[in-house]
Amino acid sequence: MLKVINVVGARPNFMKVAPIVEAMKRREREFTPLVVHTGQHYDSAMSDTFFRDLDLPQADVYLGVGSASHAAQTAAVMQSFEPVVVKEKPDWVLVVGDVNSTLACALVCVKLGVKVAHVEAGLRSRDRTMPEEINRVLTDQIANLLFTPSEDADQNLLAEGIPPERIRFVGNVMIDSLYKNLERSKRSRIKESMGLTDKPYAVLTLHRPSNVDEPETFGRIFKALETIGEELTVVFPVHPRTKKTIAELGLSERVKSIRGLRLIDALGYLDFLSLCSGARIVLTDSGGIQEETTVLGIPCLTLRENTERPITVKLGTNTIVGTDSDKIVAAARIALDGTPERVASIPPLWDGHAADRILDALR
Ligand code: UD1
Repeated sequence: MLKVINVVGARPNFMKVAPIVEAMKRREREFTPLVVHTGQHYDSAMSDTFFRDLDLPQADVYLGVGSASHAAQTAAVMQSFEPVVVKEKPDWVLVVGDVNSTLACALVCVKLGVKVAHVEAGLRSRDRTMPEEINRVLTDQIANLLFTPSEDADQNLLAEGIPPERIRFVGNVMIDSLYKNLERSKRSRIKESMGLTDKPYAVLTLHRPSNVDEPETFGRIFKALETIGEELTVVFPVHPRTKKTIAELGLSERVKSIRGLRLIDALGYLDFLSLCSGARIVLTDSGGIQEETTVLGIPCLTLRENTERPITVKLGTNTIVGTDSDKIVAAARIALDGTPERVASIPPLWDGHAADRILDALR
């Protein structure tokens, strides 16, 4: 019997951990799972809703660290997670993704000599100004076992000198959640409530500091939306960070004046999945949404200069567009035109069974 602490901290972690914990509960003779929530995200819309939507059991331990600077947040997670590991003496700690909680908890484990596994290892944007890239590189250096979602990730790890026996290509665990919940998401009434049934619409998400904390970049994106919003409704579920910067940068009036742009509060998993699966195009700076749209077959325009998920460009529906207004508008026109240059496909092992492969490897 293996005792495993599964760490969640921020919104994109919940859909990665849910299928793993579910598989551990199903295989109760082999695994005893505990869930530790660091509290990096704490608003109901950023956390509780996801536990409900994903049937994720309530956290066994809630650390309640909240928001702070990178150093303060990372340090707070470390300080509060260490006594939990000392008390519980797990056989493994599982960390997922690339948020501050991921690195903080991995660092605690390696210093205590407790085995730690990283799910979604090996992704690299090669942009070290992104806090997530630093979290990814460092977590992969110190974790004992690295579970990769795609073969490019294996190549990245090998190129960084990581021995092959520490690497396991298991596929994409977030896509386990997508397959499990796609049918359920059809019960969401989000499209009806917004009057979007049978109407073409786009979905927009933005939360990267490089986009929303920079007035010039934010301005260029809004300029593009002024044109795209003339052609179809753009639904924009707003991340709390983005809401804050729209207010602080004095952009509220400009945003409200964009025809076709409809701001709503951040959505739960099922409502967002429902909204995305009915969209003509998705514009985003998120990492996970690049993967979800690839599986849903919806064109994705990534409003960044790079991606740590190149497989979504090579095989899937993703295009790296950047943040130049004209380029965003041109890419949206091509995507809306509906005649893609090539047929997109779903990457290998994005098949809904990644969680079981992770459990097999832990044993
Ligand atoms: C974090 C992750 C990012 C991930 C994103 C998904 C890091 C470095 N960044 O970014 O990789 O893509 O989550 O959402 O770990 N806030 C709230 N309520 C909350 C959480 C945050 O209002 O529940 C506000 C606070 O003002 C906070 C700000 O959002 O200061 C940023 O939160 P933080 O967790 O630091 O980073 P994110 O931008 O959410």
